[in-house]
Amino acid sequence: MITVVKAKEKAIVKAHPRIDAIYKVTGLAKYVADWNVKDMLYGRVIKSKIPHGKVKSIDVSEAKKIEGVRDIVTCFDDNTIWHAGEKFHERRVFTDHVRYLGDIIGAVAAETRLAAIMASEAVKVVYEEYPAVFKIEDSMKPNAPKIWEDGNVKGPLIISYGDIDKDFTEADLIVKGNYKTSRVANAQLEPAASLAWWEGDKLTVVAATQSIFGCREGLAKDLGIPIENVRVITYYKGGGFGNKANDMNYDLIAAILAKRTGRPVLVEFSREDEFSLVHGRWATDQMVEAAVKKDGTVLGFKIKAYCDVGAYTRAIGRFVEGPESYYSTRSWYSEIYAVYTNTPPTGHMRAPPGPQACFATESVIDDIAYKLGLNPLDLRLKNAVVKVHNSLSLTSNGLRECLIRGAKEFNWYKRWKKPEKPKKGEIVRGVGVAMAAWHSRVGYGEAKIKLRSNGKAELYVGVVDIGTGAKTAMAMIASRYLGIPVEDIDVIWGDTENSPYSIGESGSRTTAFTGNAVKEAALKIKQRILTLASQITGIERNQLDIVDGKVISSDDSIIIDIKDLVTRTGNNEIEEFVESKQELDKDMERLSFAAHFCEVEVDTDTGEINVTDYLAVHDSGEIVNYLTAENQVRGGIVMGIGMALSEKLIISDSDGTILNGNFMTYRLPTIENIPNIRVIFVETEDPYGPKSLGEVSIIPVPACIGNAIFNATGIRLTELPFSREVLLAKLDQM
Ligand code: MOS
Repeated sequence: MITVVKAKEKAIVKAHPRIDAIYKVTGLAKYVADWNVKDMLYGRVIKSKIPHGKVKSIDVSEAKKIEGVRDIVTCFDDNTIWHAGEKFHERRVFTDHVRYLGDIIGAVAAETRLAAIMASEAVKVVYEEYPAVFKIEDSMKPNAPKIWEDGNVKGPLIISYGDIDKDFTEADLIVKGNYKTSRVANAQLEPAASLAWWEGDKLTVVAATQSIFGCREGLAKDLGIPIENVRVITYYKGGGFGNKANDMNYDLIAAILAKRTGRPVLVEFSREDEFSLVHGRWATDQMVEAAVKKDGTVLGFKIKAYCDVGAYTRAIGRFVEGPESYYSTRSWYSEIYAVYTNTPPTGHMRAPPGPQACFATESVIDDIAYKLGLNPLDLRLKNAVVKVHNSLSLTSNGLRECLIRGAKEFNWYKRWKKPEKPKKGEIVRGVGVAMAAWHSRVGYGEAKIKLRSNGKAELYVGVVDIGTGAKTAMAMIASRYLGIPVEDIDVIWGDTENSPYSIGESGSRTTAFTGNAVKEAALKIKQRILTLASQITGIERNQLDIVDGKVISSDDSIIIDIKDLVTRTGNNEIEEFVESKQELDKDMERLSFAAHFCEVEVDTDTGEINVTDYLAVHDSGEIVNYLTAENQVRGGIVMGIGMALSEKLIISDSDGTILNGNFMTYRLPTIENIPNIRVIFVETEDPYGPKSLGEVSIIPVPACIGNAIFNATGIRLTELPFSREVLLAKLDQM
């Protein structure tokens, strides 16, 4: 017989491969574009060929003659509003005011992909052309062409606390910097696709969404139909990174074409479409000033930022945000403007404003350390957040521990040296550090568990798993609190018809929101089982536990298989449905933290920058699955390395063409650019359970690399992605 202690250790699995891995690696996993339903048509969008203007007329006669073309819809036939498509204005699915090159003005449905593509190219559009602006400087000029009726600039959005003017008066030192970040594409592997069909007035959409419920809600609202009439299915999703958390325009287009033709329609974006139609990370131009005391106390930060949000922005958050939650300055004032341009739209991408804001602020912090002759790690330890905005207490705070643990593991104090001017031709090394925090919200979740008389359980959750391993995490939580192996849990997900509600995979919320409901449902079933076992054995309930599917008493003497207990209820199953709601007190804040350390190598001859070592230390509270958690952090770091060293959507100043809109020329990092990445978790105890993880991992990366470049060369690079040419020019000036 096994001892209880040993059995308990075995029961809590802390690392588990993805439960759907086999389906993904064998190709059995069915993504949207893999669906092929009876009578299905293929849909393609018709895109504007000018960056700014009014559509005067569309001639579809030639396009209609192409064999297999079944329907062409344009901005003159349909005026559906896509509410989630733009934050400050109403945006039509098919627009007659085109605001960027590629703006959607119509769509085609045809019997084949080829016919749909050909027809989308064959429509003849007459435009009244307006002047276009591709840069925020031009867009902000008084006589700039109006992209929106109410003007091209929105804001200021202000984040402020404390007495900023007083702190700048009392400062011993004011450190300033102007930092710029570029447009970055989400670049998920799976191109956008959506399949829709109608049965009477009931709509089914197979979507590539991050939130089946968010998608359903948006479709019902935009199409003006009751929410009960919409079903959304997502079984597999090839990456999200933020831009698919509502109903998307391609979902609406599939639904509109399906309604008009009376047939199922699969709308697909090409890879090139992805780069112009999907909503990526906005560019920023930030002026940062810090008020500092001689001892290194940072009194306050002042930031003024202009963000290029493109022709539309789906962003619901602030456009530069974050550092005010990981520094405990006495005051803070940021003034943020969103500026529209005739360029591709923007939206959420992994910690939407986080890395941009961190890059600017963490670079300035590094400069402060240099100017005061302090070690940059000590300066961070001195100013790391204690109370958010100087007023809110944190539910848990592992930031200092992340910094201290990281310094030890990275051997920071040995490896860090004062930056020196390199000799031309040398290959020099340097180390950098940067820290970050991100929201770790709590909220509403639902879960249903059925424990069957064969000892296996079905777990129903509304998650889709956008690549995070969410389904596996949910199974592991159920396994742990129910006391049965992960292998005995079938997860049922991804269909609004049979999944309990989940907010969806955005804002790094799934483990907290839905995971907590899973935990509560599992504990409820466990209590019912233990009550039964107690009645049968006469042993008090609190002396009993479930381990590996068996009820065990604390003295290890009684073992009853839970199968027998379920059978004894006279039913085939024990079911629990849970709605869980967590709320923070008003004076509390909950955050996840990270401290990143890296080493770079800079070739002073060529300007080449290589990241040669990387350590990430994270406080995300308790970790559910080390395997997927570590890899999620690595994924964030890889994206951050791209943002720092190579990724930039290059848009022509003359006509708004994307010059690198494909995977050949858009420079994503490859394995060649990725160093060994070590990931460490400091598992703080948080009263609300596991904290967020997905987004925070990208935030400190560009700043960390920039700080290492400064450490290696004494040169402060202020624009992302870092450019060899700029670095070489600055080396020459030294
Ligand atoms: Mo996200 S960028 O909250 O999906």
